[in-house]
Amino acid sequence: MDSVQEYYDFVLPLIKEAGQVLLHAKNYKIETKGEIYDEVTEFDRRIEEVLIKKIKERWPSHSFIGEEESHINGIGTLTDNPTWIIDPIDGTANFVRNLKDSCVSVGLVINKVQTMGLVFNPFLNELYTAIKGQGAYLNGKRIYVSKETNIMKAIFNYEVSLARNPKYYELYMYRLKHLIQIINGFRSLGSAVMGLCYVASGRVDAYQCDGLYPWDAAAGVLIVREAGGTVCDSRGCEFNLMDPNFLATSTKELSDKFMEIERKADDERLRDMKNGDKF
Ligand code: IPD
Ligand code: CA
Ligand code: CA
Ligand code: CA
Repeated sequence: MDSVQEYYDFVLPLIKEAGQVLLHAKNYKIETKGEIYDEVTEFDRRIEEVLIKKIKERWPSHSFIGEEESHINGIGTLTDNPTWIIDPIDGTANFVRNLKDSCVSVGLVINKVQTMGLVFNPFLNELYTAIKGQGAYLNGKRIYVSKETNIMKAIFNYEVSLARNPKYYELYMYRLKHLIQIINGFRSLGSAVMGLCYVASGRVDAYQCDGLYPWDAAAGVLIVREAGGTVCDSRGCEFNLMDPNFLATSTKELSDKFMEIERKADDERLRDMKNGDKF
């Protein structure tokens, strides 16, 4: 097997090139994939196709999980084989609206371990990278999560798009009811990958998102961890890359405090349900 550094050196120019294509994209068609809010462009498809093709030419035995390909053929299972997990555009809804939080994300998982992550946001000219055990970097400079331990000072990136689903709606309303009374401020950026990178670079102190896919988390979760942050699943259990929902925080203290609030919100929700009260 080649070294992780060889993988990194090979993919770095490819992800930069893909970013340049996005940066100069214009006059493209926007389609939807089933749901009206699930937008996709020819660039989502093209970037993924080219990345997979080029990496496959170099390492034909490797496996691939990409958002657009999985939409057609299904996600499949993660094996011990080196597996490239690709989100060709994370934050497509931002991209088509000229909002700058979108990026190309490439993660590499070997023996089921998140080993390498590269994220390029061409609109901000920001390249986030991490190799397991070697730290996280923004444009080549080492980055670290914030040192924040006080939830009252924390800036929390929170996405509630799943509230469309009644199962999540109540959960979110109870969580938010408790959180908004103490938190410093909320943000909702619309890119899971950038959200993770912003925890890694200390721009926000926490990020929570549910109902995601491996390509939303493969690179970003490693980048947060390599920057010194904590990632667990939204219920406080171990993060699962193949069924990703997560709470990523800069410090363990913040993670514990969020979980304490969630438990409080959950207890209240269950109590209200028993009493027949709805939020
Ligand atoms: C989406 C973004 C968004 C998250 C959605 C994802 P996409 O990815 O990461 O932040 O809330 O669940 O689907 O479709 O733009 O790659
Ligand atoms: Ca998408
Ligand atoms: Ca995504
Ligand atoms: Ca995408």
